[in-house]
Amino acid sequence: MTSLEVKLGPLSLKNPVMAASGTFAFGREYSSFFSLKLLGGLVTKGITLRLRPGNPPPRIVETPAGLLNSVGLQNPGLHGFLQDELPFLQQIGVPIIANIAGETIEEYEALVEGLLPSGTLAAIELNVSCPNVSKGCLSFGADPRSLYQLVTRIRKLCPLPLIVKLTPNDIDITEAARAAEAAGADVLSLINTLKGMVIDIEKKKPFFHLKIAGLSGPAVRPIAVRMVWDTFKAVKIPLIGMGGITNYADALQFIMAGASAVAVGSANFVDPLTIPSIVEGIERYLKEQGYSSPKDLCGIAHQ
Ligand SMILES: Cc1cc2nc3c(=O)[nH]c(=O)nc-3n(C[C@H](O)[C@H](O)[C@H](O)COP(=O)(O)O)c2cc1C
Repeated sequence: MTSLEVKLGPLSLKNPVMAASGTFAFGREYSSFFSLKLLGGLVTKGITLRLRPGNPPPRIVETPAGLLNSVGLQNPGLHGFLQDELPFLQQIGVPIIANIAGETIEEYEALVEGLLPSGTLAAIELNVSCPNVSKGCLSFGADPRSLYQLVTRIRKLCPLPLIVKLTPNDIDITEAARAAEAAGADVLSLINTLKGMVIDIEKKKPFFHLKIAGLSGPAVRPIAVRMVWDTFKAVKIPLIGMGGITNYADALQFIMAGASAVAVGSANFVDPLTIPSIVEGIERYLKEQGYSSPKDLCGIAHQ
């Protein structure tokens, strides 16, 4: 018997394929394409304490095999999320993971305190890796000491499973992974977008207002797989792998490198049915190869 169920520390998913933060909004837009019950989990867009209009346009540009974004954490804020988005998410019936971002430790704390009373979230994901805002966020993720301090403080007040989303920028990701694990993270997710840049040669200026933007999509996949590979060896807690996954074979690369689950981001923009087709493909592969669970393949490439 093949079962797609996976355990991520204290978190159980009925399959290992999740929607990555910021590429699935709060689910509504995708619900007309497929039943969201097919998701292993849904990670929300990054939520901040107050509503954020995000960065001025342009916000997205296509690159070879990927895209650069400078959305700047546009979101309805904690109150807007609880009032307008959570009721829809709650009725889907899959684990909902709130991705949160702050400029200070106190802001992250206030977000967790504000989210807990809803009683329906499966986990909190700390976004310490957004390259598209001028303050906070990445400054925690790129410094092991700040990261340790932040995760320690959040761990104290958060009874929910705690996921820390690591950055591929400005730090050896295994150092950040060890700091987050030592501070009590249950799960790590990696990678967030890579810092990149495009120059507009007519204007003779950077294309984006903040100059630097976040690269995602297939272009980053080999880097992301390598980072999952290294992080798997560096920590004991489970990993959610992401970066350029477009089909079941890409997803399996991450699992074989050491991820217990995967998340799909930019590919959702190309084909909104990517996630259900990956779930199907993984199940078919397991059956064909005679494995009973994705767990049997986790880290298998290290053997
Ligand atoms: C438009 C866009 C918005 C994103 N917003 C967030 C966010 O709010 N919080 C977060 O942790 N990651 C965010 N990400 C990063 C993705 O969740 C993911 O880590 C990254 O894009 C790599 O996966 P992919 O190559 O499959 O897109 C965003 C990515 C994109 C493309």
